[in-house]
Amino acid sequence: MPAPRPETPRRTERLLADSAGIARAAEMLRAGRLVAFGTETVYGLGADATNDIAVAGIFAAKGRPHFNPLISHFPDADAAFVHAEPTDMARQLAAAFWPGPLTLVLPRTGRSDVSDLAAAGLGTLAVRVPRGEVTRTLLTLVGRPVAAPSANPSGKVSPSDAYHVLNGLGGAIDAVLDSGPCPVGVESTVVDLSRGVPVLLRPGGIALERLREVCGPVAHPDDHVHKLPTAPGQLASHYAPELPIRLDAQSVHPHEALLAFGPELPGAGLVWNLSEGEHLDEAAARLFAGLRFLDSEGARRGLTSIAVQPIPRHGLGLAIRDRLRRAATPSTGSPA
Ligand code: TXA
Ligand code: MG
Repeated sequence: MPAPRPETPRRTERLLADSAGIARAAEMLRAGRLVAFGTETVYGLGADATNDIAVAGIFAAKGRPHFNPLISHFPDADAAFVHAEPTDMARQLAAAFWPGPLTLVLPRTGRSDVSDLAAAGLGTLAVRVPRGEVTRTLLTLVGRPVAAPSANPSGKVSPSDAYHVLNGLGGAIDAVLDSGPCPVGVESTVVDLSRGVPVLLRPGGIALERLREVCGPVAHPDDHVHKLPTAPGQLASHYAPELPIRLDAQSVHPHEALLAFGPELPGAGLVWNLSEGEHLDEAAARLFAGLRFLDSEGARRGLTSIAVQPIPRHGLGLAIRDRLRRAATPSTGSPA
């Protein structure tokens, strides 16, 4: 069941990412309040991961199903490995990619005081050390693990700037620390290291090719459809805009908006080009803003769907395709 949305509206402060704003955000988090903050990937909705009531507030504000565990964020690997077992491979990946857009799922340590609700009662914990001075200063000042899912209502498009957060969750959270647009633009890559072989649970900001360079074979759920587990939160329908999405379009139908990549297909009156020069990093950074723009402007103009030009399957293309596939899957009513 999705958690109910809170009934009493709150005043949501927009904090500037200067030293006073960061200090205030940290103080609010330490006091158990809900503060969204920018990371290199997307904005997260933060709460003290050791405070059950604060963590429950995240689920309520997002309308997120309780079976979907949260990532705990840390300023450095040493802090993360107090709560998650540092296997050899975890240390190698941390050395190669932290701080950065990689989340590791590891067995929880006996001394971890992260709330069971944040971990959805699992024996594992997802941990991440994000990049970016503001984010790391904030996490250092909080001095505790910070649970943070993407700062959007559950099932909707993730926020890549502070205004997206205010549009979706303004009135439901205490503050947003505005550090500007997120440079990577898609969420972290999630890798499960708690089994024999590393398993890619979610493609994201670190490309699979780069992971394999460091840790050798990585199992990908698509390699063995239905045989490998995916992350509990990887529901088929997610990132849902209001307009339906048509993937791998070779032409534009009448009344369609176009999400382009490279040279644009002719015939669309409303276009957002992810990257004219076909750069996948640029396309990832522009993805969620583009979906929001085409969705709202397309609906305003009476368009009926969004056609998406083919995106290659390598590099960050894997993460972009994953998000678009989920955005294209109609919700069956299950809480995504
Ligand atoms: O880039 C990101 O990862 C952003 C920023 C804010 O850090 N966070 C984010 O969180 O995308 P969220 O909650 O939207 O996605 C976390 C994913 C979900 O699919 C969840 O099911 C999975 O990680 N996850 C968390 N803990 C897990 C665990 N113990 N085992 C398996 N999957 C887990
Ligand atoms: Mg999310």
